[in-house]
Amino acid sequence: MDRAGQIALLKTLLNYVDAKTTATADAPWRNDVTAYTCPERHAREEEILFRKRPLVTGLSCDWPQPGAYRTDDFAGVPILTVRGRDGKLRAFLNVCRHRGAKVAQGSGSAAAFTCPYHGWTYGSDGMLRGLPEEAVAFPGVRAERPGLIPLPLAEKYGMVWVVPTPAPNRAADLDIEPWLDGLGPDLASWNLDTYHFHDRRVHHEEMNWKLLVDTFHEGYHFGFLHKDSLSGILLPNVSEFTPFGPNFRIVYPRTKLDRLRTTPESEWDLMWNSTIIYSMFANTIFSPQGDHMEIYRMFPVDGRTDRAVMEASFYIPKPVASADEKRHWDANVELAMKVITTEDFAAGRTTQIGFGSGAQSHVVYGRNEPALAHYHKSIRRALGLAVEDAAVQTAAE
Ligand code: FES
Ligand SMILES: [Fe+2]
Repeated sequence: MDRAGQIALLKTLLNYVDAKTTATADAPWRNDVTAYTCPERHAREEEILFRKRPLVTGLSCDWPQPGAYRTDDFAGVPILTVRGRDGKLRAFLNVCRHRGAKVAQGSGSAAAFTCPYHGWTYGSDGMLRGLPEEAVAFPGVRAERPGLIPLPLAEKYGMVWVVPTPAPNRAADLDIEPWLDGLGPDLASWNLDTYHFHDRRVHHEEMNWKLLVDTFHEGYHFGFLHKDSLSGILLPNVSEFTPFGPNFRIVYPRTKLDRLRTTPESEWDLMWNSTIIYSMFANTIFSPQGDHMEIYRMFPVDGRTDRAVMEASFYIPKPVASADEKRHWDANVELAMKVITTEDFAAGRTTQIGFGSGAQSHVVYGRNEPALAHYHKSIRRALGLAVEDAAVQTAAE
């Protein structure tokens, strides 16, 4: 986002505060609770949202040098992402071409990957380099299966995306722009390729994966649910909402926004006066947070509508150089994880139980929760389901 865009956003937020209002949808929108409970719909989400679309996989700094690799099974298929000796980042199905064992485990740095089962070995470019007993046991096999199966990958703006399904032509490259729907300039403005990885947490939950995402999508709850944690930091029920196709940006003003009224415009800074949320359709929240970056990725677990996992990753502007700096960044991680898992997700867990009670066929998103309606309408469109306009929705109860 350029400087003029940042100033305009801050002015919009100040106007909202003055007028005691926020970005609004035209009308409330009702979402069928089966969106969170129906196994058939869930299977469709897994197939379309988690297999066919590019998923944010991390920032470039997660693979800082040639040989750096990460494995990841969250999308339901085993993925190996590794930076080659040529500096190029590649993704593969982490499936041995012999009999299918995982060739790489966890994350780290490696010059090659040797399958633990029978020792077939692959280079960081995915090509099969070693095949024990090849001449006698596997004549002609190498030509038929020369390497791991590539997955389409994009590395741009310091961010990385992977499609978990191989392209029909086995293409390794992905043009991410059509999927960003105009978000590219915003991403470019954060200079993500200058950041450093700090910490990563994996958190399991007993609720639908979309409930984990939903909690980032509105500030209506800040003053209630977070009254003892964030209410002194973030202004409740004020935000600016900007869609980019199914993706969107929400800017939540911090309580210190008021100070801008007595500060020259040339000194205004968006990052320090707000919390910014980019919802990168459909499962990722990317959040510039004052002095660091956070990425939250949500996935369903075990094919269940009521089990999910969140991977939270924290990135900092300079590598930690002292115990004090480490304490500072660790405290940021702890605060974020505590608020999200013990406040937001605690409410979400009860929501999932409520869905199963039969109390109501629909939940309702208020005019002050425009991102929620946009998000769930976008999911319906992606799944090929009809989207009813709020004006023609009839309240079911
Ligand atoms: S399954 Fe990998 S070497 Fe046999
Ligand atoms: Fe929250």
